Amino acid sequence: MQSASKVPVMPSITVLGTGRMGAPIARNLARAGFDVTVWNRTVEKAQALQDDGIAVALTPAQAVAGAEVLVTMLADGPSTEEAMLGDTGGLGALPAEAIWIQMGTIGMDWTRRLAARAAERTLAFVDAPVSGSDGPARDAQLLILASGADELRERVEPLFAAVGRRTLWVGPAGAGSALKLALNSWLAAITQAAAEGVTLAQALGLDPRVFTHTLADLPLGAPYAVAKANAMIERQFEPGFALALAHKDVALAVAAATDKGLQLPVAAVIDAVWGEAIAHGHGAQDVAAAVMTVERGGD
Ligand SMILES: NC(=O)c1ccc[n+]([C@@H]2O[C@H](COP(=O)([O-])OP(=O)(O)OC[C@H]3O[C@@H](n4cnc5c(N)ncnc54)[C@H](OP(=O)(O)O)[C@@H]3O)[C@@H](O)[C@H]2O)c1
Repeated sequence: MQSASKVPVMPSITVLGTGRMGAPIARNLARAGFDVTVWNRTVEKAQALQDDGIAVALTPAQAVAGAEVLVTMLADGPSTEEAMLGDTGGLGALPAEAIWIQMGTIGMDWTRRLAARAAERTLAFVDAPVSGSDGPARDAQLLILASGADELRERVEPLFAAVGRRTLWVGPAGAGSALKLALNSWLAAITQAAAEGVTLAQALGLDPRVFTHTLADLPLGAPYAVAKANAMIERQFEPGFALALAHKDVALAVAAATDKGLQLPVAAVIDAVWGEAIAHGHGAQDVAAAVMTVERGGD
């Protein structure tokens, strides 16, 4: 019989943010055997995870007490900062030997700022945004864009294996966020191209499905863009990836480029027209609602 001291103990993990991505990530961690605690601003969303054996805390500070690993999966930089550094924020309560894995898409500046706050406490920090939407998150099929100190890899790999299909280690902390911004400016461009192709085909008297079927038959037709074009035709705007979050990423990409003295003309236009669509009330819809920016009247 194995002695008690040899039974492997799974690290305890806290997840701050149980939205569309954070909730399935927390569930998959619990299914893999980790001891999981969550916090979410809207507590009901966190409580929905209790049936999966996940503990719910009422503040970020309570949630991180005793955590060996912290995952933040919040909407953006400001909400992550608030959860970590606000009145009941998690940073001060996180044990000194814990690792903070920042998985939300927060861009370059916020990643630098929050990594610096972690460094002030000599906490280990991994920048690891993800590619893949709510479906891949549920199926533990995310692509993890990890970056950080080499010596942390071994400690975080079991967690990544529980939520993703593959982890790319791309450099020092910040490199993962850089890759994520480049990928999401691409996502925005092909989504807007899908919106314009669908609307143009229709305006020229075609059934827009002829456009998407042809696109799907060509190397031009990225599966993501074809899927979004079909969602636009079917008016399926139930969010997988909300337009407001996609817009945040385009704005982050434009800001990061500007910082480097670079212009992104396509991203800059998308930033403006998606901003208008959000002002017209489409921010909580799926990014496929970008089609509204092309339709008559822009709404
Ligand atoms: N969905 C995707 O396809 C996808 C894919 C890859 C990466 N991402 C990125 O992953 C992150 C999470 O996305 P998601 O789709 O899970 O978004 P979501 O469903 O909208 O969840 C956002 C989370 O942030 C919290 N939040 C928002 N504002 C807050 C504030 N001011 N204070 C405290 N908490 C706040 C929300 O809390 P409440 O529940 O209280 O609102 C929720 O927990 C984002 O950075 C997004 O860009 C998303």
